[in-house]
Amino acid sequence: MEQLEQALAHFKTLLEDQFRRLETMDKPKKDFASMDTITIGIAPGDGIGPIITGQAARILEHLLSKEIASGKVVIKHIEGLTIENRIALNQAVPTDVLEQIKTCDVLLKGPTTTPNGGNMESANVTLRRELDLYANVRPVSIPEEGIDWMFYRENTEGEYVLGSKGIDLPGMAVDFKVTTDAGTRRIIKAAFDYAQQNGKTKVTVVTKANIMKKTDGKFSAIFQQIAAEYPEITTDEYYIDIMTAKLLDTRVRNQFQVFVMPNLYGDIITDEAAQIQGGIGTAGSANIGDQYAMFEAIHGSAPRMLERGMGDYANPSSVIKAAAMLLRHICMPEKAQKLETALETCPIAVTGTTDGPTAAEYTDTLLKLM
Ligand code: IPM
Ligand code: MG
Repeated sequence: MEQLEQALAHFKTLLEDQFRRLETMDKPKKDFASMDTITIGIAPGDGIGPIITGQAARILEHLLSKEIASGKVVIKHIEGLTIENRIALNQAVPTDVLEQIKTCDVLLKGPTTTPNGGNMESANVTLRRELDLYANVRPVSIPEEGIDWMFYRENTEGEYVLGSKGIDLPGMAVDFKVTTDAGTRRIIKAAFDYAQQNGKTKVTVVTKANIMKKTDGKFSAIFQQIAAEYPEITTDEYYIDIMTAKLLDTRVRNQFQVFVMPNLYGDIITDEAAQIQGGIGTAGSANIGDQYAMFEAIHGSAPRMLERGMGDYANPSSVIKAAAMLLRHICMPEKAQKLETALETCPIAVTGTTDGPTAAEYTDTLLKLM
């Protein structure tokens, strides 16, 4: 049947593209400590994005005022990453916006709405792929429970890399999941390096290798190989289903430290973990590659909040935590620490309702603490 032939031709193109991607994966790492000028791009996104990202920008401008004055840090405001512009141009990330982003070293990005259905890819997924941001790093901490988790989510392949390129056939639809050796190695190494450099003693891999035998099977096997290079770090392995349950088990969950997993499982479990911490508005997220890095909230653009006229009450703490991760990434750990301490000791919290402070009032308080 003609459709079958078309599907096979499509599949062939996809595989050829993936082989080409394999060839581009090994790049030198940027060394921020030795750079004369660091350019930070800020792209506010849409929905509540401009409101919360604007507050994070105020904090960065405050903490970096000396460096901005001396020219060591340049802040570049990037426009055009809005849902209106993206729909008008029918591009997940408009070409000129991507060009501007590529002139920056790091990017602070507000949430961007993904249209349901249609063919438009999520801007996040496009940016992660175009900038090869392979490590999605999400910390979750609950000090009163002794929880200090760090999630290393593979960010460029797995279920996402061909997520908009599946095949529709009469009576069925097929999507693809891709796991490469190089892509798996670099994320697992990043997780072990983080553990080693931060005094962590255990790394846990999360897969569904009993079912996804080829892709997750590879992830699991490479994890074992790399673990052997870090003999001082203990390891364990869980399937994603039981891991979602373990995170709810208050007797065992504080024993986990560093997690590493394929893309979709990481997407799901980091929302769960953020909710355990106090809500998805409370967790920051870093997307790290060897050349570029992007920092963002883990939640979406909350269009309903804007529709209800509640945008000013959106919680900026997720994107502000992302800004702290950005500072750490560009080798400014003292500034990051200052901000994290302010976040921890802040006497007020945004509730998302008019009973609590606005995003701007909350940020005013943080600024006074720094
Ligand atoms: C996240 C988000 C994204 C994802 C969406 C917005 C595409 O849920 O960053 O976790 O699925 O990765
Ligand atoms: Mg998610």
